[in-house]
Amino acid sequence: MSLPKTDPTRTESWKLLKEHYAALKSEHLRTLFSEDPGRAAQFRIEWGEFLIDYSKNRITPKTMDLLQRLAVECGLEEAIKKYFEGDRINETEDRAVLHTALRAASGNSLYLDGGDIMLEVEAVQKQMETFSNAVIRGERKGYTGKAFTDVVNIGIGGSDLGPVMVTDALKYYQNHLNIHFVSNVDGDHVYEILRHLNPETTLFIVVSKSFTTQETLTNALTIKKWFLKKATEKDVALHFAAVSTNTEQISSFGISETNVFPMWDWVGGRFSLWSAVGLSICLGIGYANFSELLEGARGMDRHFQQTPFERNIPVVLGLLSIWYNNFFGAETEAVIPYSQYLQHLPAYLQQGVMESNGKRADRNGNAVTYQTGTIIWGAPGTNSQHAFFQLIHQGTKLIPADFIGFKKPLHGDMDHHHKLMANFFAQTEALMNGKTPEEVAAELRDQGLEEEAVANLLPFKVFEGNKPTNTLLIESLTPANLGALIAMYEHKIFVQGVIWNIFSYDQWGVELGKQLAKTILVELQRSSTGNHDSSTVQLMSAYQSPQA
Ligand code: F6P
Repeated sequence: MSLPKTDPTRTESWKLLKEHYAALKSEHLRTLFSEDPGRAAQFRIEWGEFLIDYSKNRITPKTMDLLQRLAVECGLEEAIKKYFEGDRINETEDRAVLHTALRAASGNSLYLDGGDIMLEVEAVQKQMETFSNAVIRGERKGYTGKAFTDVVNIGIGGSDLGPVMVTDALKYYQNHLNIHFVSNVDGDHVYEILRHLNPETTLFIVVSKSFTTQETLTNALTIKKWFLKKATEKDVALHFAAVSTNTEQISSFGISETNVFPMWDWVGGRFSLWSAVGLSICLGIGYANFSELLEGARGMDRHFQQTPFERNIPVVLGLLSIWYNNFFGAETEAVIPYSQYLQHLPAYLQQGVMESNGKRADRNGNAVTYQTGTIIWGAPGTNSQHAFFQLIHQGTKLIPADFIGFKKPLHGDMDHHHKLMANFFAQTEALMNGKTPEEVAAELRDQGLEEEAVANLLPFKVFEGNKPTNTLLIESLTPANLGALIAMYEHKIFVQGVIWNIFSYDQWGVELGKQLAKTILVELQRSSTGNHDSSTVQLMSAYQSPQA
């Protein structure tokens, strides 16, 4: 059974939201706060070690009520059930979407095509645990009998971004193994990493759901050649492991069957870090921490499944995002983690959000008449304050932002942490309140400026404010809280996809470029320019012409 196929713009709530937007668009957050002393308490959700304060959004209780009605009219409740129960909601690829099964409690059953997939999931988890324990403890050794010191994850997209992000986010919990990532087909990426590695003590994991991805196979072959300069073909079995759904392709690469970690077509690449794609995470932080990551995500799954929409974090965040995207016309959303450990979160979410919801055909196959996927970007605070915050504060674009901060620092330095968090709180307050002409003038007069100078400077120093933010204040950056945070964004993506009436779990849009690159590669290898537009021909011939 498929997801409902409701055009959101034809619902009653959409019509009411449009009217409501017209009435609310000029209201300033400052006014909304001053008129309602209970506002902060009303627009907050406490869950586990999370506090979500969404009161600094351009909303009233009526907005949230109408947005929730939109979710109801678009069949979100039924959709959530189908998602978790394994219906083939990825219709264009005829697949279920079950990354949630990868973190379900053990001992449960989930039947897909007559088989209990939980048995396979648990078997692979056991395999990951045994393998990672043996490598971490130095029981599994390289071809010269030395323990492994380095691990290289070879993969791209979902087979790279999740492991990169989580490995860095949980570096505090990392053991002695150095984890590296090779993704780009740019040879400089792989050679740069290899030049610091010793083949005797390095373990390579080739991660590719399809095992056909050009970048990953090219990098894997280059690495294998490099390895064979010192080792022999039979040593490949000791130093290479693979994660894929395409197990036949793996054996032709020479990887031993015992080092093959299966995954399944019901796990989308960008949602796969919970599967054996997360083997590098597991090696870096140990299986117990990896399990906690899964457990945290499981908690968020339950919250999402069981909580009424008005207190449901992914639903509320998804609806707010639709409010700005479809009614205010905001095109982008910023994600600003106040934790250097989360520096890769925006890049990770870019794939999650933009590959999922960057679609223009609705679930009926018609072109949508409204905006879909938001553009995601961001960087950690406070660095980003010194980079792009100027535009968020005083530029012409409306950029809703998520601020993510932690109550406790991992290394315990409260001097640094108070400074970090003072900025965290100050920025959302400044974005909301701005600075009025009266405030600017008073400040300039206090500094002793003459009236003429005050008038001249005033326009440049006024901050409009009214910039919406969500604040996620989390106890500390533990594996469990990170798992919950990632799952929260995964479900936000789902909520938005359901309401926008699009298919969030395919990614046909990445194919055209791949096809063309194949043709051009053959042409470059034959030193020809092929049959292309004049710009492409001009560029290809410049690339191939010998340097003057
Ligand atoms: O970019 C397209 C894509 O298919 C992603 O969805 C995926 O995560 C990535 O390529 C890598 O694919 P694979 O794991 O099959 O190598």
